[in-house]
Amino acid sequence: MRKKLIAANWKMNNAPEGAYDASSPFHANTEVDVVVFPTLLDIRDCNDAQIITGAQYACIEETGAHTGDVCMSQIAAAGCRYILCGHSERRKDHGETNEYVALQVITALEHNLHPILCVGETEEERDAGKEKDIVTAQLSGIPLESDITIAYEPVWAIGTGKTATPEQAEEMHAYIRSLLPEDKRETTKILYGGSMKPENAAELLSQPNIDGGLIGGASLKPDSFGQIVQIASR
Ligand code: 13P
Repeated sequence: MRKKLIAANWKMNNAPEGAYDASSPFHANTEVDVVVFPTLLDIRDCNDAQIITGAQYACIEETGAHTGDVCMSQIAAAGCRYILCGHSERRKDHGETNEYVALQVITALEHNLHPILCVGETEEERDAGKEKDIVTAQLSGIPLESDITIAYEPVWAIGTGKTATPEQAEEMHAYIRSLLPEDKRETTKILYGGSMKPENAAELLSQPNIDGGLIGGASLKPDSFGQIVQIASR
């Protein structure tokens, strides 16, 4: 049995009000793993509040003249346990390629950070029937034999209110699982991301190959996020 993981990706937003309260849903509980990806500026406050954190990005270089960047060792030293690699917004806004993202995953593992690798196709790619090819390419070069988590985030479902149907998501998750090395197939978590909210979480999270969620918009509303955590705990 894979323990469910519910992750909050706050993107470039401030921590929601009440996030640091002891009773907030952003704290891990015994039933479900919970991790928050705040902006770099809020990592310390989250850690001080005993919230398990990850960074939304880190550079693959170790140190040096990289204005505006932050490296994996700094992320680890700041107390983060996780790191998002290859979120579609990074791929689009910062030109991160599959090769670069693979290097990020490798560098993260070298620094004992747990990578959550984001994969997923655009609407155009799905319309052309290429969703599996796209995801296969995004997974090539990734050390799938390592301890990583994968998040399937169809780009057309992110922030749009359109969610993959449970059947569409399950089909992709099962496909992704089939690409994993045999000894990792049972243990690797595959999260779904893309307009997950309390109204659709139960159906998505009950699919056999969906092991949790990577939540954007709904993670900015503690009530909604808490409901999703509750649903995942069942
Ligand atoms: P939304 O939940 O806002 O669609 O965002 C999903 C996402 O990008 C999480 O990383």
